Amino acid sequence: MKSKTGLSLIFCAMLAAGAVASTAEAAKVGVSMPTQSLQRWNQDGANMKASLEKSGHEVELLYAGDNDIPTQVNQIENMIADGCEVIVIASIDGSALTEVLKGAKEKKIPVIAYDRLIMNSDAVSYYATFDNFKVGELQGTYLAKKAGLDKATAKEPKYIEFFTGPTDDNNVNFFWGGAMKVLQPYLDSGALVCKSGQTTKEQAATLNWNNEEAQKRMENIIASVGYAPDGQRLDAVLASNDACAQGVATALLSNGYDASNFPVITGQDCDKPSVKNIKKGYQSMSVFKDTRSLASQVVKMIDAIVKGETVEVNDTTTYNNGTGVIPSYLCNPVAATKDNYKEILVDSGYYKESEI
Ligand code: BGC
Repeated sequence: MKSKTGLSLIFCAMLAAGAVASTAEAAKVGVSMPTQSLQRWNQDGANMKASLEKSGHEVELLYAGDNDIPTQVNQIENMIADGCEVIVIASIDGSALTEVLKGAKEKKIPVIAYDRLIMNSDAVSYYATFDNFKVGELQGTYLAKKAGLDKATAKEPKYIEFFTGPTDDNNVNFFWGGAMKVLQPYLDSGALVCKSGQTTKEQAATLNWNNEEAQKRMENIIASVGYAPDGQRLDAVLASNDACAQGVATALLSNGYDASNFPVITGQDCDKPSVKNIKKGYQSMSVFKDTRSLASQVVKMIDAIVKGETVEVNDTTTYNNGTGVIPSYLCNPVAATKDNYKEILVDSGYYKESEI
């Protein structure tokens, strides 16, 4: 049995913990994440919860099943009803939250759009993300160099296929825009050819960024175009993220490709399976977005909001959500390859070498 002194010590500790959460500088924060099926969102959620709690905030962290829009809407509704004082949202469909966020606006609850912009809502106070256009540029630039597009001509072109995410994710416009800024001139000159003809972002879209959807589409393209190690050449695949890259790699591996004849394939997120693929030669690069820095930037925003201080932003022109430009903080994405993954992923403590 616990002694009286022991119990009163515990009681004092509880009071102290309660006191932290109820000071003017701490808040109850709702964090709504889209899915647990992709590694990055689990990491984002965990990083955010840990950093927010370290700052003394109380956290309600919820995942919307597997990208289930009605679940996300319900969870946000509950956060508003539960007395959350700030809400952070990584939306599934950026345009599906207009109604529910009216409730947040009425209660003057600041909303931070996390990673993906929430569209058509004047309830969004800030946006924290990575420089999404630069993500696409890093992919396009890497692909152009690695596939030797500068030396290609209309007579001797290079062959490419395109895979991006769903068009309801506003980031896709930026990933696509950044990559196409680099690649479109080669398509226009004929130095780069897409045999399937699927060159618009709508045609290249992957529902929910789902790995198996990308695999299926790649398999269909292989069958219809006749890509094969000893058939029609495929030099490069622009994949906007690692889930797409993994689906494409699986389709190629089951169609006779191996590391000696893989096309250049881009990616994004440095998911563990993709880093493994990079090491094996089944993916050429990924884009590292350090979710720790995004989480800590959002915590800084929340601390400033709660204290009534100026919120740090570094972009006030790029991200218009249909109701006006949302003040944004853009973190810096970095290209990751076989040559630098150790330095940026392992030495920085993001992964242990044994995990990848
Ligand atoms: C994120 C990417 C992620 C993708 C799929 C995008 O909005 O910016 O990092 O790969 O969603 O979850």
